[in-house]
Amino acid sequence: MSTLFDHYDLRGLALRNRIVMAPMTRSRAVSTVPDALTATYYAQRAGAGLVVTEGAQVSEQARGYLFTPGLHSKAQVEGWKEVTAAVHAGGGTLFAQLWHVGRVAHCSVQPGERAPVSSVAKVAAGVQAFGYREDGTPGQMPASTPRALAAGELAGITADFVAAARNAIDAGFDGIEIHGANGYLFEQFINGGLNVRDDRYGGAEVANRLRFVLETVDAVAAAIGGHRVGVRLSPFNRVFDMPAFDGEADTALALARELATRDLAYVHLSNREAILAGGGEGFLKAFREAYAGGTLILAGNYTHESAASDLAAGLADLVAFGRPFISNPDLVERLRNGWPLAEADNASFYGGSAEGYTDYPAYRMEAEPA
Ligand SMILES: Cc1cc2nc3c(=O)[nH]c(=O)nc-3n(C[C@H](O)[C@H](O)[C@H](O)COP(=O)(O)O)c2cc1C
Repeated sequence: MSTLFDHYDLRGLALRNRIVMAPMTRSRAVSTVPDALTATYYAQRAGAGLVVTEGAQVSEQARGYLFTPGLHSKAQVEGWKEVTAAVHAGGGTLFAQLWHVGRVAHCSVQPGERAPVSSVAKVAAGVQAFGYREDGTPGQMPASTPRALAAGELAGITADFVAAARNAIDAGFDGIEIHGANGYLFEQFINGGLNVRDDRYGGAEVANRLRFVLETVDAVAAAIGGHRVGVRLSPFNRVFDMPAFDGEADTALALARELATRDLAYVHLSNREAILAGGGEGFLKAFREAYAGGTLILAGNYTHESAASDLAAGLADLVAFGRPFISNPDLVERLRNGWPLAEADNASFYGGSAEGYTDYPAYRMEAEPA
């Protein structure tokens, strides 16, 4: 029976335990370049078996929020080098999450203040994104109405992912995670309720809605090796105005079967609770079977007990914790020793500087001040 603290061989990468730090946007890269503070933050959390970074945009068009880091410029790559060196110095393993937000953006953060892009020209109703107000100050702005991407533009976005993945390897990352979850661009293509395109990238045909993400996975895998590529997905996700649709489980299982043939590093499901609500444990088991032989990571409101129980039940190979890692840099040691967990302060999740970012102490420091 596997426990949280067992080693794990992730396609040749020796993970120290089965606890993953989930990707979390922290919006502290003022100029889109990670800096020494970013390096400190991730190094403090290097005890995770695998650290996945916050989403890093693959291009300027891919950006949805102010102060998120990129992986498409020389300066950004140099900034990330500090981060990977610091995590590796702590014995950690680190993947960069690569994202394109699609329609979850306000035009003030887009190049030339143009409309963001998506599968279809339908606004994400009720969704806010971090952009500029009319007076030029930063603030939460309603997502802008996107324009539908022409089929001929998709290869360019795939190429941006390939370039960013190569940049990630140059910056010293152990691999990359393609963000296909949480209502961002790839999910805007996968979701059958939203993507009603009538070309080979959308509509009723499942294979058409999966084509864009699979073409990108294949291109990135060809560039850096499939064993260095993870994919994050969120079946039954309702966040960012993602509608329910007929055949939702079949779509996700078809994607799992496709990914299973590609010999990747892993598939990461970001929303265990939404899955249980939408598809039940039966769906999770079916997904596991469909992705047979591959490493599966599950995330979503885990506690020590529920994580250990899902591993023991064989529902996942690795479990990811998000918010607990914000406030417990030494989360693995706290879980291992049964030490109490500190609560995260929601108000400092996004933006700001060291406060609520690098100033959460490790448990031992609290108990035995130097
Ligand atoms: C502050 C914050 C930022 C997040 N940013 C991202 C992100 O950049 N990419 C992503 O895939 N998920 C993101 N998530 C979702 C987490 O990775 C995770 O799936 C979610 O928080 C559930 O795990 P938890 O209950 O352990 O926090 C974010 C979550 C939080 C709380």
